[in-house]
Amino acid sequence: MACLCAMLEAFKRSPEGSALASIGLFLLALCIFKFVHTCAMFVYTQFVRGGANPRKFGEWAVVTGANSGIGESMARQFAKKKMNVVLMGRSEAALEEVAKSLRSSYGVEVNVVVADLSDVSADNLETIAAELEDLDVGVLVNNAGMSYDHFDDLEAVDADRLAQLVQLNCTSLMLLTRAVLPGMKSRRRGLVLNVSSGSADMPSCPLLSVYAASKRFVDSFSVSMDYELRTFNVRCQVVAPMYVVSKLSKFRRASLFVAHPDAYAAATMRFLGRETVCWPFWTHALMLGAIKAVPACIFNNRYLVYARGMQRAFYKRQKRVQLAKKDE
Ligand SMILES: NC(=O)c1ccc[n+]([C@@H]2O[C@H](COP(=O)([O-])OP(=O)(O)OC[C@H]3O[C@@H](n4cnc5c(N)ncnc54)[C@H](OP(=O)(O)O)[C@@H]3O)[C@@H](O)[C@H]2O)c1
Repeated sequence: MACLCAMLEAFKRSPEGSALASIGLFLLALCIFKFVHTCAMFVYTQFVRGGANPRKFGEWAVVTGANSGIGESMARQFAKKKMNVVLMGRSEAALEEVAKSLRSSYGVEVNVVVADLSDVSADNLETIAAELEDLDVGVLVNNAGMSYDHFDDLEAVDADRLAQLVQLNCTSLMLLTRAVLPGMKSRRRGLVLNVSSGSADMPSCPLLSVYAASKRFVDSFSVSMDYELRTFNVRCQVVAPMYVVSKLSKFRRASLFVAHPDAYAAATMRFLGRETVCWPFWTHALMLGAIKAVPACIFNNRYLVYARGMQRAFYKRQKRVQLAKKDE
């Protein structure tokens, strides 16, 4: 032991030892600076910075999947800022209900476009594009999305559902963006806001693999598009919710980590036209920061255990329901 200490002392005093100590100090200072900068930016973007006026992008906001959840709340936020709104989705009755409420609360124009966005045929897309043709579309919110019904193995999920998921979450998002860009570019203003998912930022998402992969497409597409469009003064941003109360997430009550869609939409408004990739809800940003700090191999194994547990719980519940039905 004494011999080892003496060797260390000798190394510290050698030119190599002092050079190594300087490099170590420099790296430590860099880590401390990065940590302080990240914390300061978190506080500034989440709590201090004011919101941008979305009207600077144009007169109309188009929101897909606007009859419930995050989409409905986003549409409400744009109407509140006196933007006219196009509500797009499948359910005419539910969309008309939202339209009625927005018109009476905010006195803005609201158009309803009924469309199944997982149908990416040329005919369907032409019909949708025709509805938007004469409007000054300032903001497109690609929000409509679907996931699995529950955690499951790839081969247990219906093949048609998987194909529909990719068409809705990826193809239709990309083609709708493509449809509004010529107008935005010619007016030299506009914003495409894509709704991704925190699952795309996690190192892995077993038993929801296609959903998470589809959202990684959204992330990558959005970042590339943002740079492609900057010379035209058009932006493309992506927001990544973790847990938000909705039909899709099956969370029914808001809590510290589960955002209410209204709170999520209000937080998102403060990020419009700012960072390309945004985590607008502060506890979601903390959760993702914590996930990224854990070594991927540890996270992946723990998450697999959680996902398998959720899968088993679903099948147990389903068995109980079937038995109860048999008994009736
Ligand atoms: N809630 C969360 O915890 C969470 C987390 C991460 C990401 N997200 C993302 O947030 C977005 C909004 O989801 P949400 O949580 O607000 O759930 P939601 O309330 O179920 O909203 C999904 C919307 O998409 C619409 N939609 C589904 N399939 C469609 C289709 N084929 N054509 C047109 N519209 C369709 C739904 O309309 P119908 O009523 O007709 O089905 C609904 O309006 C999704 O992209 C989702 O992936 C949500």
